[in-house]
Amino acid sequence: MEKATIRNLKEIKDKRVFIRVDHNVPQDDKGNITDDTRIRESLDTIKYCLDKGAKIILCTHLGRPKSKADTQFTVKPIVKKLQDCLKGVNITLVDDCIGKKVEDAVSKLKSGEIVYLENIRFYPEETANDPEFSKKLAALCDYYVNDAFGAAHRAHASTEGIAKYVPAVAGFLMEREVKILGEAVANPKRPLTIIFGGKKIKDKIGVMDNLLKIADNILVGGGMTYTFVKASGGQIGNSIVDAENVEYCKNVIKTAKAKKVNLVVASDCVAADKYAPDANTRVFATNEIRDGWEGLDIGPKTRAAFISVIQKSKTVIWCGPLGVTEFDKFAQGSKEIGNAMANCKAITIAGGGDTAFTVAKFGWADKFTHLSTGGGASLELLEGKTLPGVAALLNIKEVR
Ligand code: 3PG
Repeated sequence: MEKATIRNLKEIKDKRVFIRVDHNVPQDDKGNITDDTRIRESLDTIKYCLDKGAKIILCTHLGRPKSKADTQFTVKPIVKKLQDCLKGVNITLVDDCIGKKVEDAVSKLKSGEIVYLENIRFYPEETANDPEFSKKLAALCDYYVNDAFGAAHRAHASTEGIAKYVPAVAGFLMEREVKILGEAVANPKRPLTIIFGGKKIKDKIGVMDNLLKIADNILVGGGMTYTFVKASGGQIGNSIVDAENVEYCKNVIKTAKAKKVNLVVASDCVAADKYAPDANTRVFATNEIRDGWEGLDIGPKTRAAFISVIQKSKTVIWCGPLGVTEFDKFAQGSKEIGNAMANCKAITIAGGGDTAFTVAKFGWADKFTHLSTGGGASLELLEGKTLPGVAALLNIKEVR
């Protein structure tokens, strides 16, 4: 990456370093964190700053609160989890993001200690990218480090605005994500294969349009299969369909043919007689599903076809689960494809959110080249877009 990273800063000892992290982690009804990947993945940068004797200010968003009154969005559980990961490190949670309380806490910070700010989205100025708010955040620190890859597609005050007022560089997580995902589409090792799953075509249109220009193979499974099958005139029974995007799928099929992209849409599925873990199951061709049945996983022929393509690829990117993985009966497709990726020689990348979670759940995290921590951000990178949170950072040559 041309952009400067924290490694390019000459001296951070005793300096106030503001690290924007994306600790927007999923929680259950009681506020327990159900997946702490984003917290663990941010530790490299935090530990580097601790080791160098910096005074650290940590900042994240959590959910989409409207104001401070939405107290369920407090970062308290996150700070507790972080403290478990950083035993012996002094972490102080301040229940604000700007103002006297925060300034006092920062002025008392000793080198090797952390002040954790409350949810930055408690201030609407954050998402409005308000310049005055950005200046107040910048005034808290000597350096700004953006390690919040998951929020880098947002031009918000703490992800973009602040970088105008203080020297701004990337953290290690940001560097890794941008390098691996960016290179996979800008300069891929070929054959390049992308696997699309999940239900919504809408969320993947930008990526599909971009990948149609550069991929060698596009494999379509999961819920979006049935919109493609419908576009080709098949009988999909009660399977999910994204009616607004049937025409779009017709165009994808045409474009793939014209560009000689190998588009493989799931040809068979494991169907259920109800959407439930204890449903009866039957295998159908995806274009001959009887009424009363809905496809909830890719079938055995599709698994074999996908695995054969994966084994011949040099880069494989997987975006979206291939079945209803929360029900055991419909997790087999994702399991076999994930296993094939984990054991192939290609560069293997799991796009953010549900896919990375699925890979981790089945225990292949260490066998993939990269599990992205970004949902929307990883999709935008795969679309070939520049992320505002990255664009705002200094280039290496600009660091003094
Ligand atoms: C995410 O979970 O994708 C990021 O944390 C961004 O969250 P947002 O979509 O609420 O901006």
